[in-house]
This record gives sequence, structure tokens and C-alpha cells, in this order.
Amino acid sequence: MCGIVGYIGHREAYPIIIKGLKRLEYRGYDSAGIALYDGADIKLSKTKGKVDDLEKRIASEISTTGSLGIGHTRWATHGIPNDINSHPHYSNSGDLVIIHNGIIENYEALKKELIQRGYSFKSDTDTEVLINLIEDIKKNENIKLGKAVQIALNQVIGAYAIAVFDKNKPNEIVVAKLGSPLAIGVGEDEFFIASDASPFIEYTKNAIYLEDEEIAVIRRHKDIKIRKIQDDSLVNPYVQELQMNLEEIEKGGYDHFMLKEIYEQPHAIKDTYRGRLLANKGIIKMAGIDDNIEKFQNASRIIVVACGTSWHAGLVAEYIFEDLARIPVEVEYASEFRYRNPVIHENDVVIAISQSGETADTLAAIKLAKSKGAFVFGVCNVVGSTIARETHAGAYTHAGPEIGVASTKAFTTQITVLTLIALKLAKAKGTISNEDYRLHLNELALIPEKVLEALKHDEHIKHIASIYKDAKNCLYLGRGFNFPVALEGALKLKEISYIHAEGYPAAEMKHGPIALIDENMPIIVIAPKKGHYEKVVSNIEEIKARQGKIIAVVTKGDTSVTNLADHTIEVPETLESLSPLVTTIPLQLLSYHIAVMLEKNVDQPRNLAKSVTVE
Ligand code: AGP
Ligand code: GLU
Repeated sequence: MCGIVGYIGHREAYPIIIKGLKRLEYRGYDSAGIALYDGADIKLSKTKGKVDDLEKRIASEISTTGSLGIGHTRWATHGIPNDINSHPHYSNSGDLVIIHNGIIENYEALKKELIQRGYSFKSDTDTEVLINLIEDIKKNENIKLGKAVQIALNQVIGAYAIAVFDKNKPNEIVVAKLGSPLAIGVGEDEFFIASDASPFIEYTKNAIYLEDEEIAVIRRHKDIKIRKIQDDSLVNPYVQELQMNLEEIEKGGYDHFMLKEIYEQPHAIKDTYRGRLLANKGIIKMAGIDDNIEKFQNASRIIVVACGTSWHAGLVAEYIFEDLARIPVEVEYASEFRYRNPVIHENDVVIAISQSGETADTLAAIKLAKSKGAFVFGVCNVVGSTIARETHAGAYTHAGPEIGVASTKAFTTQITVLTLIALKLAKAKGTISNEDYRLHLNELALIPEKVLEALKHDEHIKHIASIYKDAKNCLYLGRGFNFPVALEGALKLKEISYIHAEGYPAAEMKHGPIALIDENMPIIVIAPKKGHYEKVVSNIEEIKARQGKIIAVVTKGDTSVTNLADHTIEVPETLESLSPLVTTIPLQLLSYHIAVMLEKNVDQPRNLAKSVTVE
């Protein structure tokens, strides 16, 4: 995820682009860059860091005149955040320049072909491959830029919102979209391009939102021409009037980043497995695992180190790894692990999980494991983060920036990556039947749709939140794969609503917490059909006998639990091992609505920080 901005018209482009990039920094901010056409040539400046750093650099590096330009604030997916990998990227000739939001999945194959044809690459990005592919097609076929972009995009697998211009045709910008957002602001003889409308809201309220697989050629003093990328058919531009204010646009129309991120999960999970999960071919591609497969296969055990929500994802992984790949797993709080003189062997594989990649305790645990000779694998969201760099190998979650302090999409995307790893190892070790393996791959590919379906119960969940918002305590119960979901549900509620909550394995309740239950105690039970369903039903009976209020997360069509519970929230059916990916959704929404009703600061709860870089 990143932010893109562009301008073509009668004003100076630079101030519009810089201000626009600042507004889009919520989409990513590891590096930034700009390319302007000053009437004679392209002026390009880019840097690792924030838009403020870019501004400082530009002041000493380039002149900022020109009424055509593009800008980018990056959230790296391919290649660490550094000056060279920052966008915009030039083509080899230096004539074309591009900004890109998304992932070109088949960039490696395309890059190989281009190298064979004499192209060279400065950066590690997928984006630089695309701009050279466009150049190659344009030169070979001697066609216009728009046509070349269109042909190139027909060869590309992945997601993109791009803007490209040619210094020899400085009166047009070509944009296209698939999967990533792209809005075009239509002013009086001027056009704005951006990932959302926030960069141009004060200039025009008229916007065209490109649809997937559309390409638009935007020409100075002319109309926009939009075509379908695949069949070249012309599309009638639909210009809509924007009603939103600036803040609403940055949050994508949601009231809070947390809610936006909850709703982003279907997309984020897809981005996590994009290019990795090839369900129809029965393949999982993950370079970090492929390159180190022996280490994993020969591992006597896996030790997971993490904190908070990432630790909960590790607990889910424990169930998945042991069940599918038959590798013993221990899940450790990084903060405890680092200080307790743990026994670590050289054939242990340590998996460090961290959204931010900057958590001090997790980092210290990694250093300790490395000093004892263990192989350390990172699962991070932020590309180029300290943990991503400190680990021997790793896999990114590609969830896009998570701004809300309470982790939501980080959790489900971490589980997605860990599931892919477990399945890959299970296959390599022969601990899963072919049939079961294919079933898991197919089901995993369906998870984004199922998450979307789970999100549809939002209003109902909001209603339940209104009933229990004044509770002083809450209990979350789950078994098996869904025990960590109970812990995560309780953490979410505590963090943002400040209501005390505990997560417990459902059967453990009778060893203590049952004493807390009375008619005032809401108990959230995660009770999907697969797994220890009958056992959970018995646990629910025990709660009922003590007049506890039961809110149950159940599989669609459930009757037994539904008859017992005070409220049920349905989620679609999936495999037991994948169920945390859907059962966690209602719990996120429940916490969110309770916190909003209690008028708490949802995105920045008291006493917390997004990444805990101190002990
Ligand atoms: C989650 O909602 C929390 N804000 C917190 O527990 C978080 O998961 C923890 O601090 C770990 O962060 P990390 O994933 O960035 O390492
Ligand atoms: N894949 C591109 C890169 O890594 C764009 C990333 C993005 O969308 O943030 O540079």
C-alpha cells in the first residue's frame, strides 16, 4: 500500500503534489519521491523517509517549476525502503517515469526476459520492471504511451494503481488500476490523480473513480479517455460529486482507522497470499521458506517469540504447525524469553512475529536466539523494519500500514502467512495427504470472501455492543484453534474500551473463572461447528446454569448453541484450522463498537503506543 498523486493543468504542480503526499502518508511513509516536468526535462527527487524529508531534499536538489508532475509515498513491498527503491522510477532510456501502488506478482519472470533483452535495473522493485516493460513494448511496436501501457498491463499479474508520463510527450499522463485505488479529480482545464480524493478536495469536488482493469489517458486541455485494459472498449467516464471532508477521505469514509482496517481484512488477506498461494496449481511459493527448507524440515522444534496480538497469532500457529506439519511448537512472550536463560539448540527454528518489526522485546529475543546459534525467521508487516533486517530470513504479511493502535488486520494476515508456512512444511514433510493439502489451499483462497460475509453482521454486533457496553468485566472462551482467538478478543476489548476482560480455554473455566459468573457477566463464547463443538456446548450449559449472559460466535446455520445463547453472531463455515480467521472478526467489531459507545479514543487508546520500542 502506498499513496500516489499527480497533476496536469495550469497551476504549479509541486505544492499540490507535496501537500497531497502528506495527506496520503497514512497509506505508507517509508520513502517518498516526486517527478516534475519543468518544460524541458524531468526533475526527479526521492528519498528514504517521510514527505518532510523529501521536501528538505528537494529544496537543495531540484527546481520545482512545472505544471505536470507525479509523486509517491511508499510502503515497500519489494526491496527495502531506501533512496533507490523509492518511487518514481525511470525507464532505462530516462524518457518514461512511473509511480505505482501495488504488487507485480510475475515481476521476476518479466525481469529475466528484460535483462535478456539488454535492460538493466537499479532498484529491487517490481515497479521498475513494469516501466521497462512499457518502454520495451513502446519502442518495439512504435506505439503511443497509452497503448504500450495497456499491452504491458495485459502481461502483468498482480495489483496496481499507476501513473506514467513520457518526457517527450509532456502533455499527458497515463493512469491505470487493478486492485489498488485511483481517483481522478476533474477541475477546470486541470486534472488531479490520487489514491483517494484527499489531495484534491479543495480544488474540485468532481471525481472519477477508475474501476479495475481500466486505463485512462489524461491530456492537457482535452477530455479523459478511459478504456478497458483487456478488450480496449471505451468507457463513459462517470463523474461523481464528492460529499466528504478531508478527514473522512483519509479514513476512507470510516470513522476510525481501526474500523477501516477491520474492513480492509478481505483485501489484506488476499494481498498476503497474492503470488504465494496458487490454489488451482496446488502450489505455495514463499522464497524465504524455499531457500531454507532444510532448516525447517530438520527443526527439532519451532519457538515463536512475539508480544501482544502477534503472540496470539503465534498461539494459533502452534495449533496449525503441530496439527498439519507435526513439528513441536513453543510460543513465548518475547519479554520473558529474553530474560529467562532459555534452552535453545542449533536445530531450533525461531519464528519472530511482529507487525511493526520494531518491538524492543521481540528484537532482544531474536538477538538472544541468534547468539545461541538458532535460525531465526521473521514474520513482519513493515518492510525493511529492524526485525525484518535482523532475522536470517522471513516473510512479509503485506497487510498495508496499520494505523489504529489495536491490531486487527495484522493479526489475520500473520495467521495467513503462518498457515501458508505450515502447509508448505506439511507438504514437504509428507505429514498431510494430498487431498487434505488441496482442501486447505482451496479453503484458504476462500477466506477473504468469508471474512467479507462475517463483516456483514456489523449492525447486529453493534446492537449487542449497545446492550453490554456498561459491563465491568467480560469473559472470552474458546477451545483448540479458537482459544487464542478468545485471548485476542479479550485483549481488543481491554485495550480500547478499558473494560476488564479475560480470555480462557473454555474447559479451564470450571477451574476458577466460573466463580466470577453471575447474571451481570457477559461471556463471549467462540463456538464454531468444527472442533470441540459438543464440549463447548457443555461449557455453555454450565454458564447458563449460573445465569451468565452468553454471546456466541457460531457457524452459519447453527442450532444447538443458538438455542442456549442470549445472542449469536454467525460466521461462515470453514476448516477448523482456518476458523480463527473468521471467528476473530465479530470480536474486533464488538470491541470497536463498545469503545465508540463509551466515547473512548479508539485509534489511540490511553497509555499505549503503536510500536513498543522500549522494554
Ligand atoms: C495489539 O492490539 C497491541 N497494540 C499490541 O499488543 C501489539 O500487538 C504488540 O505491542 C506487538 O506489536 P508488534 O506486532 O508490532 O511487535
Ligand atoms: N511494489 C511497489 C514497491 O515495493 C509498490 C509498493 C506499494 O504499493 O506501496 O515499491
